[in-house]
Amino acid sequence: MPGEPFYATTPIFYVNDVPHIGHAYTEVAADALARWHRQAGDDTWLLTGTDEHGEKILRTAVANGTTPRAWADELVRTAWLPLLETVGVANDDFIRTTDERHERGVAAFIQKLYDDGHIYAGEYEGFYCVGCEEYKQRDELVLTDAGDYAGELVCAIHSRPVEILKEKNYFFRMSAFQSRLLELYETRPDFVQPESVRNEIVQFVRQGLSDLSITRTSFDWGIQVPWDPSHVVYVWFDALLNYITAVGYGVDDAKFARRWPAVHIVGKDIARFHAVIWPAMLMAAELEVPARVFGHGWLLVGGEKMSKSKLTGIAPGEITGTFGADAFRYYFLRAIAFGSDGSFSWEDLTARYNAELANGFGNLASRVLTMVQRYSDGTIPSPEGAAVGAAADADREVRDAERRATELADRAMERIAPHEALAAIWDLVDELNGYVQSQQPWALAKDPAQKARLDTVLFTASRGLGTLAVLLSPFLPTATERLWSALGAPGAVQEQDIRRAFEWIGDGPVRPLDPPLFPRVEAEAAVGA
Ligand code: MSP
Repeated sequence: MPGEPFYATTPIFYVNDVPHIGHAYTEVAADALARWHRQAGDDTWLLTGTDEHGEKILRTAVANGTTPRAWADELVRTAWLPLLETVGVANDDFIRTTDERHERGVAAFIQKLYDDGHIYAGEYEGFYCVGCEEYKQRDELVLTDAGDYAGELVCAIHSRPVEILKEKNYFFRMSAFQSRLLELYETRPDFVQPESVRNEIVQFVRQGLSDLSITRTSFDWGIQVPWDPSHVVYVWFDALLNYITAVGYGVDDAKFARRWPAVHIVGKDIARFHAVIWPAMLMAAELEVPARVFGHGWLLVGGEKMSKSKLTGIAPGEITGTFGADAFRYYFLRAIAFGSDGSFSWEDLTARYNAELANGFGNLASRVLTMVQRYSDGTIPSPEGAAVGAAADADREVRDAERRATELADRAMERIAPHEALAAIWDLVDELNGYVQSQQPWALAKDPAQKARLDTVLFTASRGLGTLAVLLSPFLPTATERLWSALGAPGAVQEQDIRRAFEWIGDGPVRPLDPPLFPRVEAEAAVGA
C-alpha cells in the first residue's frame, strides 16, 4: 500500500549556461528531502528539469552560432543531466519544457484560461530584463554612474541594461486573485516559508496586483498561443506549468490526482513567481494550489549572490572532485540554515569535512568495525548475550540518543530544516564517540572476566552505527551504503524505515572499511581545488 503522497520539485533551470554550486544546492536539498520521505514510506516523487524557451536562451544560442533547440540539447546532455550524477540526485523524472508532453499541456492550460475569460488582449509598454526574463518596475532598476553602462537604467540583480518593450500582448487577469491569495497566506501560514519570504510576499500582494503580460510577439522561441499563433507564451507562464505537465495534467487524471499538489523548493529570488503568479494561475484553472513553497537562501561569494553572469560561479565538480558528492551534500545542508544565505569558503568546507566527516563520523565507523573484528571475530554480539553484562547508564544514554536523533531529525525534515536534522543526528555521532572513549573496549578486551561487558559495548556501538547509517542515508547515500554493507546488514540502506532507524539490529559479519568513509583532505589540496 503506498504511503502518504509526497511530491517535491526543484526549479527548472535555464540552459543558457552550465550549472554552478547554487543550482546544485537546490538540487541536493530537494533530493535529501525526497529521500527522507521515500525512506519514511511516503509515496514520493522528485521532479527536476530544464527551462528552455525564452529570449535569454534564444540569444545565447544565436551568439554561439546555433539554434536554441540544438543548444538546449547539448547543455542538457553535457551539463544538466550530469549534474544530477555529480551530486547524487535520485530524481524520479526530468522534464524539459521542449518535451511534447509539456508543450501540449501548456497549450491546453492557456486555452482553458482564455475560454474561461481569464485572458484578454492588451498593449504592454515597460522595462524588460532578459536575464530575469521579467518585466521590471522602475523601483527595481538602478541608474548606474560608472562602468560600461554609465547613465543607463540597469536591472538591480543582473547589473545589465533593461530593454523598453512595447508590444501587443495577451494578459492574465491576475489582479482578480489578490484577495484569494491573501486569504491563502492567511489561512495557511506555512504555505510560503520561511517567515521572511512569507512576509515579503504578503506585503507585495497587499500593495495590489497588476495583470500579467503572458505572451510575446517579437521572437518565436516558445510555445505557440493556440488561438493566435503570432504569439508565444511568456517563458515564466510556460515554465511554472512544468510542475503539472510532468505529472499528467490533462492527459492522465489518475497520475495527476496521485501526485499533485507539490512542495516547491526554490531559491528566494524566484519565490514570488511560485507564491503569487503560480497559485493565481492554478486558481484560475480551478486546480489545487501547491502544498508549500520554500524559498531558500543564496550561496554568496564576496557578499553577493553567486552567479555565472557575475563570474562568481563555482562548478560543483570542483568540490566533488576532491571531497566527493556526499561531502558536498553534507556541507551545504549542514553549514547553512536552510532559508538563510550562506557564504562559501574552501577553508570552512575543509575544516568541517575533516572535523565532522573524517574524524567525527568516518573515524567512529572505522574504529567500531575494527573492534568488532578484533575482539568478536567480526560478529556483532547478540542483544541477549550483551544483556548479560548489566546495562549501564551509558548504554541507556546511547539508546536514548538514538531515539532522540530519529525523532528530532524527522520533525526537522517535516519543517524542511535539513540543517536541524543533521545537527540532531550529529548529537548521536558525538554521543557514540564519547561512549567508545569512556567504555574503552580495548581495555575490556584484555580481561576475560569482562567479556559480557565487552559484548554489551560492542553491541551498543554497532547498533548506534547502524542507526546512523539509516538516518544519514538521505544525506550521504554513498558512504552509508558502504557502511551498511560493512556492518553485514542485509538489503539496501535506502530501504530501511527511517522513522524506525533505532530499531535496527544486526549480527554481522562485519568487514573493514578500506578506504575509510571520508579520508582526510589536506588544506592545500582543497583550496581552489
Ligand atoms: N528557469 C527559472 C526557474 C523556473 S521554475 C518554474 C530560473 N532558473 S535558474 O537557472 O536561474 O535557476 C534558479 C534557481 O537556481 C534559483 O531559484 C535557486 O534555486 C538556484 N540558484 C541560482 N543561484 C543561486 C545561488 N547563488 N545560491 C543559491 N541558489 C541559487 O530561475
